[in-house]
Amino acid sequence: MATILDGKALAAKIKAQVKEEAATLPRIPGLAVIIVGNNPASRVYVNSKRKDCEECGFLSEEFALPEETTEAELIALIQELNGRDDIDGILCQLPLPNGINEEAVLMAIDPNKDVDGFHPMNAGALFVGKDGFLPCTPYGVMEILDEYGIDPKGKTCVVIGRSNIVGKPMSIMLLQRHGTVTICHSRTQNLTEVCRGADILVAAVGKNHTVTKDMVKPGAVVIDVAMNRNDEGKLCGDVDFDDVKDIASAITPVPGSVGPMTRAMLMKNTLLAAKKHQA
Ligand code: GUN
Repeated sequence: MATILDGKALAAKIKAQVKEEAATLPRIPGLAVIIVGNNPASRVYVNSKRKDCEECGFLSEEFALPEETTEAELIALIQELNGRDDIDGILCQLPLPNGINEEAVLMAIDPNKDVDGFHPMNAGALFVGKDGFLPCTPYGVMEILDEYGIDPKGKTCVVIGRSNIVGKPMSIMLLQRHGTVTICHSRTQNLTEVCRGADILVAAVGKNHTVTKDMVKPGAVVIDVAMNRNDEGKLCGDVDFDDVKDIASAITPVPGSVGPMTRAMLMKNTLLAAKKHQA
């Protein structure tokens, strides 16, 4: 039976540290969260982020905009928030409604307030190994690996998924820590064989049963980034947890590991933004 990588416990520890450090700043960190339209999953995420801010003693301000909001209106709000001294971090919940160009919106966020790490300036900083804001999900995965003493150095790392939010930055972070990284995606041939070579396997696809037992090398570390629902409406990941837990050496459960860590890293990034902003 694999070690269960308890991201929930680690997230609580990190948030407690963030709260303690935030209390020493001249002004409490402020996070603006923008949500456009009525995506139910986004609503759940945004509510959680507000709770996290309360827990960490941050100011949190939510902007819930109607589905019909135009790109220009959204960008105007972001520009206003860019200029506000009490706001250190700005997060625009994705996905955005059709008709709004996501890239243009993310580009409008001041890179110094981009606590999601999605602005090309921060993505570029990661790419070339300079300091910037790291995207919260892969950042949280790296913290889980570190907490459990799992060092990617020299290991075969396979990331399934090539999104800008998770797959791509995850791959770069593992590479930076000297992993030998392969990125798989929907056109990958022989996915099973490639995955079976992994010492560290990260699944970030968003589809149940993507990773089955036959795709996992005995003793591998398996990280499940997904948050899917099964046929009964129950939360589940990309990995067949019950089968894979018997052959992996360590595994993240869904829910309760990468999700809470993503939220904790948002708080950590907001604290970092506040420290820079107030310096
Ligand atoms: N949608 C899904 N994940 C995320 C995230 O980490 N940040 C934002 N802004 N939107 C998301």
